[in-house]
Amino acid sequence: MAKPTATFTCTACGARHKKWAGQCEACGAWNTIQEEAPLAAGPSAKSLGGARGRMIPLADLGTAEPEPPRAASGLAELDRVLGGGLVPASAILVGGDPGIGKSTLLLQAAASFARKGLKCLYISGEEASAQVRMRAHRLGLADAPVKLATETSLRDILTTLDAERPDLAIIDSIQTMWADTVDSAPGSVSQVRAAAHELTSFAKRRGSAVMLVGHVTKEGQIAGPRVVEHMVDTVLYFEGERGHQFRILRAVKNRFGPADEIGVFEMTGAGLAEVANPSALFLSERDNPAPGAAVFAGIEGTRPVLTEIQALVAPSPLATPRRTVVGLDAGRLATTLAVLEARCGIPFAGFDVFLNVAGGMKVTEPAADLAVAAALLSAREDAALPADCVVFGEISLSGALRPVGQTENRLKEARKLGFSSAIAPARSKPGAPAGMTVRQIADLTAFVGEMFGA
Ligand code: TYD
Ligand code: MG
Repeated sequence: MAKPTATFTCTACGARHKKWAGQCEACGAWNTIQEEAPLAAGPSAKSLGGARGRMIPLADLGTAEPEPPRAASGLAELDRVLGGGLVPASAILVGGDPGIGKSTLLLQAAASFARKGLKCLYISGEEASAQVRMRAHRLGLADAPVKLATETSLRDILTTLDAERPDLAIIDSIQTMWADTVDSAPGSVSQVRAAAHELTSFAKRRGSAVMLVGHVTKEGQIAGPRVVEHMVDTVLYFEGERGHQFRILRAVKNRFGPADEIGVFEMTGAGLAEVANPSALFLSERDNPAPGAAVFAGIEGTRPVLTEIQALVAPSPLATPRRTVVGLDAGRLATTLAVLEARCGIPFAGFDVFLNVAGGMKVTEPAADLAVAAALLSAREDAALPADCVVFGEISLSGALRPVGQTENRLKEARKLGFSSAIAPARSKPGAPAGMTVRQIADLTAFVGEMFGA
C-alpha cells in the first residue's frame, strides 16, 4: 500500500501544494504554507466493505414546500444576510479580522434567537465564561436564555452538543478547537479542517444549526477561514475599517439565499446597532459639494446603497506616481485611468492619485466605474460635481458606457435621499421616478463634455 505522503497547504487561501515554498503561488501570500498531517489511508478497492449507504428516491423526500423553514432572529440586518433567517441543520462560517466584532455580533445573535424561543449554546474557546457574561451584561443581554460553555476539546464539545441538542450552537472560534485524533497543534490546517468537518456533520446529523467563527490571519501560524469555506453552507464575512464605527456583514456564499447580500451595523458603546438605511449613513458625512467627490448609486445584494467615491489628484514628485485605493479594486482604477488617457486624452501621468470610498464601505460592482471616473475628473479639474446628482455605469475599454442592472432601484433610492438628477449609460431603461431627471450618455468623451464643458 502506498505510504500516505504529507501535503502542504496555504493557511491563507487553502491551496494545496506538493512541496513547501516561501510564497503561495495561488494567493501570493508569504510564509503561509504549512505541512498538513497525512490522513490515515482510505479504504482500497479490495478492502471495501461495511454498510452500504442508503439511497432515497428524490420523489420520496415528501412534497413539503421547497423553501426551508427558517427562524428569524429579529435582528433584521442579520436575517437579511442569512437569506431570511436561520435554516436548521445548516453550518455557517463567520469570518473577519480579529477585534472587528465577531464575538459581539454572535453573542447578540444568540440572545436574539434565544428570545425567539430557540435553544442556543455559545461555546467560547477564547474567553472565560465570566468574560462572556461580562460582555453580555454590557450589551444588556445578561438575562437572555443562552447557555455558555468554555471548551476547546472537540470530543467534549461534541458530547455536550449531543446531550444538549441545541437549535443553534456557536463555536468561537474554530481556530481554538482541538481534536485529539489529529496530531498537530490547534489552529493548524489539519486541526481546523477536522473541527469544521466534525461540527458540520453534527449539524447535518442532529438538525442543529452551527455557527463557526474564523479569524482572518495575516501570518501563516494559524489557518484562516478560507480553509473551511467549502465545507459549510453559508460563508459570511464581517468587515470594516478599524477607525470607523461601521461594520458590514457580507454573504459571500449562501446555499439558502442570495450571495453578496449585506447587513450594515454600527459599533457603539453598547454593542452593534443595526443600520436600516445605510445610504443615509454613508452619505451623512457629506459636506457641501467638494471637488473630487461623486455619489455612486450602487446595488449590494438585493438592495440599493448610495456611497460617496472620493478622489484626490495631486502633482507628484515621484518618478512613478502613487496610486492608492481604499474600498475599491486597484485594477479597476488603473483601467479607468488608462481609458481616460487613451480615449479622452486626459493624462494622469505626473499626478499622485488617491481613491477612497467614504465610511469604510467596499464597492466591487463594475457599475462604479463611471462614479470613479467622475470623481477623478472632478478632482483633476478642481470642479465640484452638482450636489444633487448620482452617477453609475460600467466603462468598457473602448470608452463606451455599458448599461447596468436594476437602474430603476438605483434611481428610486437616489430620489428617496433627495437627489434629483442622475447620469446613466445610454440604452439603460430608466423608468425614472417623478422629480428625477436622467441624462443618458453613450461614452466617456460625451460624459467629460457634459460634466466639464470640454
Ligand atoms: P469582539 O467582538 O471581541 O471582536 P472579535 O470577536 O471579532 O475579535 O469585539 C472587539 C471590539 O469591539 C473591541 O475593540 C471593543 C469593541 N466593542 C465596542 O466598541 N462596544 C461593545 O459594546 C463591545 C462589546 C465591543
Ligand atoms: Mg472574539
